[in-house]
Amino acid sequence: MSMLHALELATNAIKNCRPNPAVGAVVMKNGIAIGEGFTKEVGKDHAEIVAIKNAIANNGGNLEGSELFVTLEPCSHFGRTPPCTDTIIKSGIKKVFYGFLDPNPQVEGKGIAKLNEAGIETILKTANGKTSDFYESYSWCVKNKTPFVTLKIAQTADGFIAGADKKRLKITGEESQIKLHELRSWCDAVIVGGGTFRTDNPQLTVRKVRGANPQKIIFSRENFNGGTFAENWHALINSLAQKGMHHILVEAGANLSQNLFLIPNSFQKFLLWTSPLRIENGLSWNSTLLPHNLTLTKTYSQGNDLCEEFSTSLDYRVSRVVARGQATR
Ligand SMILES: NC(=O)c1ccc[n+]([C@@H]2O[C@H](COP(=O)([O-])OP(=O)(O)OC[C@H]3O[C@@H](n4cnc5c(N)ncnc54)[C@H](OP(=O)(O)O)[C@@H]3O)[C@@H](O)[C@H]2O)c1
Repeated sequence: MSMLHALELATNAIKNCRPNPAVGAVVMKNGIAIGEGFTKEVGKDHAEIVAIKNAIANNGGNLEGSELFVTLEPCSHFGRTPPCTDTIIKSGIKKVFYGFLDPNPQVEGKGIAKLNEAGIETILKTANGKTSDFYESYSWCVKNKTPFVTLKIAQTADGFIAGADKKRLKITGEESQIKLHELRSWCDAVIVGGGTFRTDNPQLTVRKVRGANPQKIIFSRENFNGGTFAENWHALINSLAQKGMHHILVEAGANLSQNLFLIPNSFQKFLLWTSPLRIENGLSWNSTLLPHNLTLTKTYSQGNDLCEEFSTSLDYRVSRVVARGQATR
């Protein structure tokens, strides 16, 4: 539970911490949370330091024998801030549970090694793989210096994404809705097309889980001075990269998905959610245009819905990170 809580805290960091990774941390003593925090703005305290300061304030300064739950490996180098490992070692914390090894070459296991040398036990705890999923975008950014884009489509069993006349349709069940809201909370921004904005005006907020709202972005010709779809899409993603964003979710309508399928590498992950609902007539999406380099990586159920995950680029998951990206801290 503590790592899951740390992950929820991390979502609060996304809005202000970029280009740094969003991290959440909880200090536990005798099974009770005595301090918590998340990454502040660039150059200010990392999550561990916020949580430790919070725990010291709450617990009269005595952290002897306490445990730290932190979603990402603590840093061990002097960057814009001093090494978090030094503060952890001085604090009296005896055990550190971490959710993901930092792929930044300046850290990459060195934080864990430093804690171990100081006699602090370290244990990888991924909350059933959630921390790895959360930092998939960070790993991608460290290597590629551009945001990780997830494209999501929900369809009926007979392949429709909206009703006749583009009428808004509740396609997926509660479990998928919860998963969608969690995914939104992990993202810097959610993009919908102008068509969806006009027909649905979706809130795109996080309501079904605890977590922070992403920025809402409408992809529309109104926001550009002419330009083709591809030119404008690249311009938008470049502008989000300049802001240091790591993860963009696209909740795509028919037109947006069709165009993205035609732009090479416009997304890294494709989520296709299929519900048992049949409507026989409605707005369909063009699956024949799906890029050929998609690999089905996961299939699972969300309530009565089937979720298929496709990846366009598997190499970043397994390769050792050598490039020094913008997404460092
Ligand atoms: N089931 C699902 O997963 C799902 C998800 C989302 C939406 N939907 C459904 O999809 C339907 C809407 O789909 P849709 O095909 O009408 O629209 P859409 O895919 O949501 O939006 C496409 C939009 O891209 C914009 N665009 C096109 N060319 C552009 C360019 N050169 N530069 C910048 N922007 C450009 C246009 O916005 P402008 O017209 O404003 O210029 C266009 O309307 C709704 O019924 C909604 O309920 C379903």
